[in-house]
Amino acid sequence: MTIPVSGLRPASASGLDNVVAAETRLSHVDGEAGRLIIAGHDVEELAATHDFEGAVAALCAAAGLDQAPAGEALRAALGEAREAAFALVPGLLQLAAGAPITEGLRTGLSLLGDEADAPDHIRLLGAAAVFTAALCRAAEGKAPVAPDGQAGHAEDFLHMLRGEPASAAEIDALNAYMVTVSDHGMNASTFTARVIAATRAGTVSAIVGALCALKGPLHGGAPGPVLDMLDEIGARENIESWLEHALAGGARLMGFGHRVYKVRDPRADVFNKAVTILTNGNERVRFARDVEVAALAALRKAKPGSRIDTNMEYYTAVLLEALGIPRDAVTSVFAMARIAGWTAHVMEQERVGRLIRPQSVYVGPWPDGRAAA
Ligand code: COA
Repeated sequence: MTIPVSGLRPASASGLDNVVAAETRLSHVDGEAGRLIIAGHDVEELAATHDFEGAVAALCAAAGLDQAPAGEALRAALGEAREAAFALVPGLLQLAAGAPITEGLRTGLSLLGDEADAPDHIRLLGAAAVFTAALCRAAEGKAPVAPDGQAGHAEDFLHMLRGEPASAAEIDALNAYMVTVSDHGMNASTFTARVIAATRAGTVSAIVGALCALKGPLHGGAPGPVLDMLDEIGARENIESWLEHALAGGARLMGFGHRVYKVRDPRADVFNKAVTILTNGNERVRFARDVEVAALAALRKAKPGSRIDTNMEYYTAVLLEALGIPRDAVTSVFAMARIAGWTAHVMEQERVGRLIRPQSVYVGPWPDGRAAA
């Protein structure tokens, strides 16, 4: 696949917009139609018909990994991977004591070697769930809860997090979330994973790099600030004045805007539906909806030339809060699911891709005093 830059001019000073960096069979984002296809399925249909293990198997098949376990074999392999990762938890908790959860997860994943017998995607998925749950509990002064290798992945994560079983509705909601965010085209973290994979550095290195890209507030770090915003607004009578003041001060409203989607992010609707079912549309959800409506109106007024709509982080925040996921852990839970997509992209990149090595245009001084380009 070629990268269409014209000569040696910058493809875009503002972030490689519209540059095609890879061919992929994994997912497709149509930003004008508000459509997301993952491994041949519309995201709404995938979330309604597959659990997380099903999405992992679909992504592996799409990546051309014919021998990857699926069905019961995948469920068992993930269970074994969680049990293996639990042995690393005491060391991780020492290393990551006091660190934010996502930084703790970054430390934990980097403890895994790039060379190992078990398939990389399964090792990483198992470890991410175990480490995130243990780090959350440690932050509250609680001891880690051992995984149950027989349980489903989402179910076991909630159990390890809380120390008690989750309800069927909660497990369904977490599965819907994890399936929906399992992959999303050539976003910043996936591109990072593919750049690292293209050097043949190994899957664990690629995924640690991807997590570093994910954690920024302009990518996967927005949900925490969405909840902070809802809390700061506090009550209905403050909504409009709070938003107006924030926009007048040049702030970005977290949970709104997207580089590719110019209409509503289809994942926002999957999460809105899931959280409405889970909470029976409680007051927090109704408040979030009122803030959303007011924020869209305020953005249209403040940025009349921009097409800014709700992105998935907005209802991610509300859904994961309803599931009792600590605010500081939302990005790690996103990563737990997105590892499915990242590792599939790594497999695809290693199978068909070349070293990714773009050009830059030198605009600095020349030793002979020549003017910059
Ligand atoms: N709130 C207020 N203004 C916003 C905005 C937001 N959420 N998103 C974009 N804008 C404004 C920008 O300030 C810019 O205004 P300007 O032209 O007056 O400078 C204009 O809209 C275009 O924004 P731009 O930065 O070119 O868009 P982008 O494609 O680079 O940004 C995001 C996409 C996601 C980084 C951006 O929308 C954002 O910061 N959103 C909030 C964070 C968030 O929700 N992240 C999760 C993404 S899934």
